[in-house]
Amino acid sequence: MSEILSAYGTEWLNLLVRWLHLVAGIAWIGASFYFVWLDNNIRPPKPGSDLEKAGVSGELWAIHGGGFYNPQKYLVAPKQLPQELHWFKWEAYATWLSGFALLLIVYHFNPSAMMIDRSVADLAPWQASAIGLGSLVVAWAVYDLLCRSPIGGRDAWFGIVIFIFLVASAYVLTKLLSGRAAYIHVGAMIGTIMVANVLMVIIPGQRKMVDAMRVGQSPDPVYGKRGKQRSVHNNYFTLPVVFIMISNHYAMTYNHAFNWLVLAAIMAAGVLIRHFFNLRHQGRTVWGYPAAGLLILLAVAVAIAPRPAGTSAGAAGGAAPDLAKVQAIVNLRCVACHSDRPTQPGFATAPAGVMLHTEALIRQHGARVYQQTVQLKAMPIGNLTGMTDDERAVIGAWYEAGAR
Ligand code: HEC
Repeated sequence: MSEILSAYGTEWLNLLVRWLHLVAGIAWIGASFYFVWLDNNIRPPKPGSDLEKAGVSGELWAIHGGGFYNPQKYLVAPKQLPQELHWFKWEAYATWLSGFALLLIVYHFNPSAMMIDRSVADLAPWQASAIGLGSLVVAWAVYDLLCRSPIGGRDAWFGIVIFIFLVASAYVLTKLLSGRAAYIHVGAMIGTIMVANVLMVIIPGQRKMVDAMRVGQSPDPVYGKRGKQRSVHNNYFTLPVVFIMISNHYAMTYNHAFNWLVLAAIMAAGVLIRHFFNLRHQGRTVWGYPAAGLLILLAVAVAIAPRPAGTSAGAAGGAAPDLAKVQAIVNLRCVACHSDRPTQPGFATAPAGVMLHTEALIRQHGARVYQQTVQLKAMPIGNLTGMTDDERAVIGAWYEAGAR
């Protein structure tokens, strides 16, 4: 009973933290997109105008929500520090804190089911957890070092090097953890880099600028430059990181034999598409970038399309297996989680709302059962209940013969 209650409590914790994470992430990425857009759209004031004399380097007019707005950018800073200055940092911190909590709740509270896949590597739960959390620390250490190295100043080269680092990390993680956990930890690595950029570089730099102005000095432009570099990186990380956050719904990506390569391709497509928007906001429209991005996505879609399962009738025993045979397998391998009363520790309700404890339910969910067990091999999750290939073949033969 208390087991069920605590699993149920965890489910609510999951819901509330995920809700918070989503809202904080929208606020953060929304603000980040907005400021990049501002930077790309402001135009210098008329030479000799009051604005120019006041030190304004660019401004624009916009209409939104029934009002006119006139943002102005000062380079490096206004002559006097304004009374009230908005900072934009809690969006980032709240996104990371809620994201990290969610990572613990979903994955690290239940590593046997959510992080370990014994067909990938037979790890102990603590090992899987240590690898996952260690990856976040390594990500920031490597990234920050690269930023401070000579390559940090060369945008395109830096982009290539950090991309290779992330793909290598994805490769290593997919050889240690379940595909799903590997993906989400690459996402958490990127998210950690993005937030650490705000916490460790952008905000401290801004603080130094403001401190200098308080004592009547003009701020050192190096802080602005450094902050801008990190902020540009964050901008290119957004599409890849958001894909990874939703990738958990798409076993076709994270469960593929070359899942790390699939991830690399989709991340690259995201960067190309982001680059298109950045250029376009500067008034340069280059359709080649989104075209290349979409072509990559199309190529991935074709490459990972499910092949006919090639179910051997031999494994299924000649004639197409009947529902009774399938139900025996489902009872053995699935209903511990997928029933109205799950018995698997850590599961209070049937995951994804899929219940399979009666013949009618198996028939109803036949296509999804086939997809998850035969085509994607995503279920049983982490193959926790030890489903065999022969059993998958039975389900395949049953479904392909019309699911009778
Ligand atoms: C250890 C618990 C566990 C076992 C055992 C298990 N599943 Fe699942 N199943 C899950 C979880 C967790 C999810 C939700 C995955 C997600 O959030 O995307 C899920 C989701 C599903 C879905 C919905 C996927 C979708 O996105 O449409 C199907 C279908 C499914 N399982 C079928 C099965 C079948 C068939 C078996 C037995 C061969 C099985 N599962 C065994 C935990 C389990």
